[in-house]
This record gives sequence, structure tokens and C-alpha cells, in this order.
Amino acid sequence: MKVAIVCDDKLDEHKEGMLDAVKNALEKKFEVGVVPFDENFMENIKNYDIAFNMATSGGKDGRQLHVPAVLDLLGIPYTAAPALSHALCIDKGVTKSVLLSHGINTARFFVVYPGEDVPEHDLNFPLIAKPLREGSSKGLKKESVCYNNRELGNMVKWIHESFHEGALVEEFIDGTEVTVGLLERGGSVKVLPLLEIDFSELPEGVEKFYSDKVKNHGYDRYINYIIPARLDKGMYKKIEEAAKRAFKVLGLRDYARMDIRIKDRNYYILDVNSLPLLVPGYSDITKMAEAAGMKYDDLILAIMNSAIKRYNLKG
Ligand SMILES: Nc1ncnc2c1ncn2[C@@H]1O[C@H](COP(=O)(O)OP(=O)(O)OP(=O)(O)O)[C@@H](O)[C@H]1O
Ligand SMILES: [Mg+2]
Repeated sequence: MKVAIVCDDKLDEHKEGMLDAVKNALEKKFEVGVVPFDENFMENIKNYDIAFNMATSGGKDGRQLHVPAVLDLLGIPYTAAPALSHALCIDKGVTKSVLLSHGINTARFFVVYPGEDVPEHDLNFPLIAKPLREGSSKGLKKESVCYNNRELGNMVKWIHESFHEGALVEEFIDGTEVTVGLLERGGSVKVLPLLEIDFSELPEGVEKFYSDKVKNHGYDRYINYIIPARLDKGMYKKIEEAAKRAFKVLGLRDYARMDIRIKDRNYYILDVNSLPLLVPGYSDITKMAEAAGMKYDDLILAIMNSAIKRYNLKG
């Protein structure tokens, strides 16, 4: 079977490392080629039986939804979610509406679109305002947490001006943060050991959440990653069930990651990643797989095998 690893046209250091590692893993079992998502993609992909999709930057608005859409058009099987599910997950407001409509908890929220002011609302401060369609903590800073309508108005205006997109405003959940990795194996969705992210040892004055600064600018060493998360059995199970249900209702496939906060014995899904990065030793999902006894290569092959099974291909 010929497998194409589909990646972005331009790769940063992390993604280069990820590409090499995924290629190494797949080469254990398959004939593998790398096909960047560029203007020659439709021609170059035709020689392959299946795609391992890692492309996340197909245009400002669409991002990861272009590759699956094109592969569907060509009738070529691929790993991870279809275009529709990526679309649901790119817009955090849409994701939350879908979750709510299925009885899955998420923080109370509203969206303020460019050209609009913050409406009258009954959400409880503090609130957090974030760009509607970004990722990797882009646009998240200390001031994203607002304590009154004046601060909120300023933050929303800053998001509109900086990102030219809506601002998602939601209640700030001051509680335990966990991230949840899901992996389809043997046709059913398994939850990997929950990873707790403990911000309590960050220096005084630094925000205790994954702002851009905390996530991407050298504060990693102050964060404790605890696996499995320190939750009682009941809450642990509740989160596993909610994450599996969210995976299903959003139409996710093969693997995904969700960020969740817990407060007063309630869980709140904050963010759903339909195509999480798989950087060895760095991306959360690789850490969670390791805690489940899966080496990096096992994780990659499990993702591939899940797709092969879904399409009834012979591996
Ligand atoms: N409602 C909230 N309450 C408390 N903390 C929050 C809330 N929303 C976001 N955060 C904090 O901000 C971080 C980033 O938020 P979120 O996951 O929505 O953004 P993202 O940029 O899409 O993340 P990713 O890097 O997973 O793509 C969360 O991990 C959490 O620490
Ligand atoms: Mg997140």
C-alpha cells in the first residue's frame, strides 16, 4: 500500500521534526512518499492509495479543511476528520453550540463579531475573550481575562483589530485543566490517560493559564504535567464519557484532543482540536500515548490502521 504523508507547503522546525518522525514510523509497514499541499497537489497525490493528513495551513479561513475536501473529491482515503468536522472545530463558537445542543458542558459564552459592541449579558465575571478561530494560544494574554465590561470592551476591540475575526467571550473557569487525547482502535474510540496541566508553580504575576506567553515563550519549565490527572474516579469517568460523546457528535475520526477545565465538580470543554500536532515528545497526545504504553511509532501506526479499517482497505 502506498501512503502519502500530506503536509503543509512550508514547515517550521517543529513540523519538520514531526514529518521525519511520522515518515520513520510509517516506513516500518508501508511504502511512503511526502506530498506537500501546493498547487501540484491534485496531480501528485493521484499515485497513492491513502493519505496520512498533517496539513493545517490551507488558507487563512479554511486551514485544515482543504486537504480532506480535495481528497474526498478525488476519492482518496485519508486519516483524521473530514472537512465538515474540521470546519465545526475551527470556529470555537460553532463547536460550543454543537456540544451544547448534545448536552455536553462548555463554559457559557457569546460571540462579538467585528463591527459589533459587547451586548448586554448575564455572564459572570471574570470572563475570557479570545479570537474565534485561532489556535496555539494566539491572541491569548494576561489581559484576555476581564473583570468588568470596560476591560472586556477593550479586549474585544483588540481582537477585532488584530485578527479581523469575531471574539469569543466566555466565563473564565478558575479550576483544574486537563487535556484529553482520543484514539480510535479496533473500531472504537479510546480515551488516553488524561493529562493534567498544573500552572500553580508559574512565577508570581504570570497568568495561570495557557496564554501565548506561557505556552510558547519559555515558561514550560514551570508547568507540571501530571498523568494520569489527579481527579476522583467519578469525575475522571464523566470526562472520558463527555469527550467520547463530543468526538462522536463532531464527526471526528482516528484521533483528536480536547482541552477541559473542571470547577465545582463540573467539567467544561473549552477547545476541540480536530487535527492535533504529533510532534514526538512535545505534543500532548504523544505524551498521553506514552503513558498508555504506546511508543510514538505505535501511535502513528494506530492512527493509520484506524483509517485503513474505516475504508475497508487491506493493510
Ligand atoms: N473559559 C476558560 N476558562 C479558563 N481558562 C481558559 C478558558 N478558555 C481558555 N482558557 C485557557 O487558555 C488556553 C488556550 O485556550 P484554547 O484552548 O481555547 O485556545 P487555542 O489557542 O485554541 O489552544 P490550542 O493550543 O489547543 O489550539 C487554555 O488551555 C486555558 O489554559
Ligand atoms: Mg487549546
